[in-house]
Amino acid sequence: MQFAGSHILSISQFERADVEQLFTVADAMRPYAHRRRRTCVLDGAILGSMFFEPSTRTRISFGSAFNLLGGEVRETTGFEHSAIAKGESLWDTARVLSGYSDIVVMRHPENGSVAEFAAASRVPVINGGDGTNEHPSQALLDLYTIRSELAGRERDIDGLRIAMVGDLCFGRTVHSLSKLLSLFADLRVSLVSPEALKMPAEVVDNLQAAGHQVLETDALEQGIADVDIVYSTRIQEERFASREEADLYRGRFRLNQSVYTANCEPNTVIMHPLPRDSREGARELDIDLNDNPNLAIFRQSDNGVLVRMAMFALLLDVADQISEHDAPVNWCTERRF
Ligand code: CP
Repeated sequence: MQFAGSHILSISQFERADVEQLFTVADAMRPYAHRRRRTCVLDGAILGSMFFEPSTRTRISFGSAFNLLGGEVRETTGFEHSAIAKGESLWDTARVLSGYSDIVVMRHPENGSVAEFAAASRVPVINGGDGTNEHPSQALLDLYTIRSELAGRERDIDGLRIAMVGDLCFGRTVHSLSKLLSLFADLRVSLVSPEALKMPAEVVDNLQAAGHQVLETDALEQGIADVDIVYSTRIQEERFASREEADLYRGRFRLNQSVYTANCEPNTVIMHPLPRDSREGARELDIDLNDNPNLAIFRQSDNGVLVRMAMFALLLDVADQISEHDAPVNWCTERRF
């Protein structure tokens, strides 16, 4: 893949060598993301950030990543603050926004909308999540986290045993992660969901065509036994016709410390793209796991900054110039990491 100047719309664009290149750059971002050094390699560059659905991690970490590289962020959140509310098309919006920015990140509730925007954009566009379709940067940070959690456990991504649990139908993160995992070898993937929220058939077919074992089950205990990673997901209430319909499935699969102890291997890593639903009646990942050292969810969200910095560095073709523009930090950074 030619990163410089490209859009990142789908994990399907990636080959394994591209993932490895991105992760090498992400590793090099650690001193900057951890505020031990600072760099102004993107001084003068502008990120256009357009989020038409709620977001905490993706929006803020893309913005922080751009700021940490020395660039500035201009953002719009919600349709009500955009001229789209006055009937402006995505095509016109893209023509305008790409005149104001060097790169754009966008989240939109409709499948394919970010690709439609990118087709009219004059600058690179990153998909920050489009409907139930894809969330490529999340998959990349998830895999980066898996790689880093497995390091030191004598396990590798090749041969990985992973369970994905929850709303596998509407959850875009598991669609993108499954596509990304299919680039690796000899995986065993357990897909734990209610029948009505199963992983789309084309995603399962893609994993099987790549030679991976896939088990589909609605039994949590069966799915999470003998795995390296449990990747829990929230019921995507916003994709259902009503809250009542989502309630049919909410709380169906609850991973808590006692379920973990009874069914998982002692070192099984617990992941979740977040937000987890901590309301009574949901709790797919219980807060009683917060002191479990294998709970990787906040290491995962931290890794979002590294991976998104690497994406910007590669798409804007400055990955080999970072250290030419760096300096020590002069503020207190103790106890952050
Ligand atoms: N994981 C994720 O996409 O989180 P946000 O919705 O908060 O961006």
